[in-house]
Amino acid sequence: MDLAKGSQAPQESLDTDIESFFETAPPLRDDVDISRKLGEFIELNSPSTGKRIVCVTSGGTTVPLEQRCVRYIDNFSSGHRGAASTMYFLEAGYAVIFLHRRGTCLPYCRSLPEDSLLECFELTESSSVQVRQSHSEDVKRAIGYHHAAVEQGLLLKLPFTTIFEYLQILRMVATSMKSLGSHGMFYLAAAVSDFYVPWESMVEHKIQSASGPLDMRLAQVPKMLSMLRKEWDPMAFCISFKNVDFPFVTQQLETDSNILLKKADMALRKYKMHMVVANELLTRNEEVIVVTSTGRVIVHRDKNEADADVEKPIIKLVAERHSTYIQESCSTN
Ligand code: PMT
Repeated sequence: MDLAKGSQAPQESLDTDIESFFETAPPLRDDVDISRKLGEFIELNSPSTGKRIVCVTSGGTTVPLEQRCVRYIDNFSSGHRGAASTMYFLEAGYAVIFLHRRGTCLPYCRSLPEDSLLECFELTESSSVQVRQSHSEDVKRAIGYHHAAVEQGLLLKLPFTTIFEYLQILRMVATSMKSLGSHGMFYLAAAVSDFYVPWESMVEHKIQSASGPLDMRLAQVPKMLSMLRKEWDPMAFCISFKNVDFPFVTQQLETDSNILLKKADMALRKYKMHMVVANELLTRNEEVIVVTSTGRVIVHRDKNEADADVEKPIIKLVAERHSTYIQESCSTN
């Protein structure tokens, strides 16, 4: 047992764990570039321009098992929630920092096939490239919206793969957004690893299977939500997600016996979130329950509208609550 740590109060112990996580994490290769992009983006969309900025996190983080990674543990998330939410935030007038797992869903690409480059384009007789007629409307729409958002400086895409990259970039984004006060928002839809192998205790080369079965002890990834609220960006409006992989019963949604809601309520209080979105893996694209300090709201996808997403009403609700939060923060300051 770590005696020094054993004698610490829980908050001190968490702070030590967080410090040690960042001290031992492999440094980001492109931190200078990310920092420059963040600075420019935040200046362009500062509150004096009347804009608001939201950081949307999306996709799952990986946990490498070797420093020269051959194997890793992954957290499931297709990135659909984050990508669709980004589109609705842009539609609602927000500038979006899209912190996403490489290779997962991107905004505006949902109607394109998975291997869109090969499926959507073809060679002409003169060997130039053209869009196939069958995909031309979808491609035009995706390119049009995406280019407009990037060119107007409203969409900044920052990719991550590992838990080390994700948390280091999240910290950079949060400390950069601190100057926005209540106009900044965090919408934390990424599926974040709960366990990891600390870099210094990780083997360098591929773990050999000839040595027999593998015994491995994983350390706990310290929860960063409290750090985000306490130090990195205390005035930002924060939404986290709570996910379970078992069905919850709709009739129980309003009762305190529901485990998912208990967990969401706990996250709201413990990490001082402004909203917690509770969702269940199987039905996450149909309905969610948004938990706030003033009550719970069940949000459904509009089944009468073709291709409607549940993200559309979620973002409407979130943006309304954010407006109220900004007004309240301005009147108390
Ligand atoms: O991408 P899709 O396929 O569309 O699916 C969307 C989703 C189901 C992944 C998404 O809606 C969702 O629920 N995301 C959160 C999943 C998750 O990480 O839950 P959690 O209970 O492990 O964490 C809860 C919150 O704590 C998260 O907001 C996370 O950002 C945060 N966290 C988690 C671990 C950690 N060490 N530090 C954290 O701050």
